[in-house]
Amino acid sequence: MKKIVIAIDGFSSCGKSTMAKELAKKIGYIYIDSGAMYRAVTLFALENNIIADNGNIDVEKLKSMMKDINIEFRLNPETHLPETWLNNKNVEKEIRNMRVSNNVSKISAIPFVRHKMVELQQKLGEKKGIVMDGRDIGTTVFPDAELKIFVTASPEVRAQRRVDEMHSKGEDVSFEEVLENVKSRDHIDQTREESPLKKADDALELDNSHLTIEEQDKWLEKHFNDIINS
Ligand code: DC
Repeated sequence: MKKIVIAIDGFSSCGKSTMAKELAKKIGYIYIDSGAMYRAVTLFALENNIIADNGNIDVEKLKSMMKDINIEFRLNPETHLPETWLNNKNVEKEIRNMRVSNNVSKISAIPFVRHKMVELQQKLGEKKGIVMDGRDIGTTVFPDAELKIFVTASPEVRAQRRVDEMHSKGEDVSFEEVLENVKSRDHIDQTREESPLKKADDALELDNSHLTIEEQDKWLEKHFNDIINS
């Protein structure tokens, strides 16, 4: 059967990764969370005092240390899902905390960070058979992807989903705090100079504010089958 590249882009916390993971599992493709890579760089920057307490970034120090950042995805033998490893350490959980979330947009707006991540992402997709989610996958990483999806949902719906997710993991956050983070990330993601978040002209748009997970999975699978059978 022919293998394709599937690019799923959209705003933060809009359920991209849920649908991307589910589809990848169903069709036997590799799933890559490109946001996890920017989060891993941010964690590295926090751990190496590249980001000051006031949020200022020592860009020159980060540039000189980029060669010391090794990001990999390794399959968890139990869940069969890829997990993010930074310099031989599993950081899958740590990269989702609030400190990383509050700093990741600024780190991911730095051109040399993006260039290194895009190069890595393109390598991962060389053999096709991949579902990758992010912000610029359909526009910059894989402009020739056979299936491109652009997912949206209102900021309030997305903030609530993230609050539920964090509460279920025992993290204590307020709706207001998360909504603020979602809105500020939307703004930075859409207005940055280097590959800003925007829908590719040939992407299919999905507003999932009022869809169940099952409904959105069905929608995506139908579009995948349409391409495979065409
Ligand atoms: O999807 P996420 O929330 O885990 O992404 C974390 C951050 O990384 C987000 O603020 C935007 C950035 N990002 C990006 O700039 N390009 C991507 N392809 C993926 C994520």
